Amino acid sequence: MKVSVNVILASLLVVAFSSNVIADEVKPEDAIKYRKSVMTVMNWQFKPLGAMVKGDRPFDKDVFIKNAAYLEVLSKMPLEGFIAGSDKGETKAKPEIWAEMEKFKGGMEKLQAETAKLAQVSKTGDMNQIKAQFGETGKTCKACHDNFKSK
Ligand code: HEC
Repeated sequence: MKVSVNVILASLLVVAFSSNVIADEVKPEDAIKYRKSVMTVMNWQFKPLGAMVKGDRPFDKDVFIKNAAYLEVLSKMPLEGFIAGSDKGETKAKPEIWAEMEKFKGGMEKLQAETAKLAQVSKTGDMNQIKAQFGETGKTCKACHDNFKSK
């Protein structure tokens, strides 16, 4: 049997097209899993810095610099997980996020700005500056959770 090249090409196109369609359709539960994972990773990187700032853990400049640099990058990641239709399911995200998306985005931008500053300041090794900037960063987490995350 001779299958024409055109038929093969056409079926390849169909396969390529349909897999594109599948990739574009992000399921709400996957978006929820994604953003919660990013938040969990941020928390993992953030917590030890809090312990160092409070004096519960010895200050380690290298760890501080590394974690702050990770946080600067991580802070760019959660927003894309808040897709339309992902306000229901295994989530603590409040519906206000989608009603006030500009404000929510502003909160994410604030987090990005403050973690970028934290990464800068950590390189100085100056505990006074580090402490102050850690506080500013923590405030952005809390402010957004107070407004947009249920308990
Ligand atoms: C602009 C908003 C915003 C900022 C800033 C923010 N968060 Fe969140 N965070 C959320 C929302 C919304 C949720 C709930 C996500 C869900 O359940 O779908 C969340 C959830 C979490 C969770 C729970 C994850 C889980 O598995 O349920 C942790 C931990 C967390 N955030 C840590 C942090 C830390 C640490 C920071 C600051 C370094 C931070 N967040 C900054 C909005 C924010």
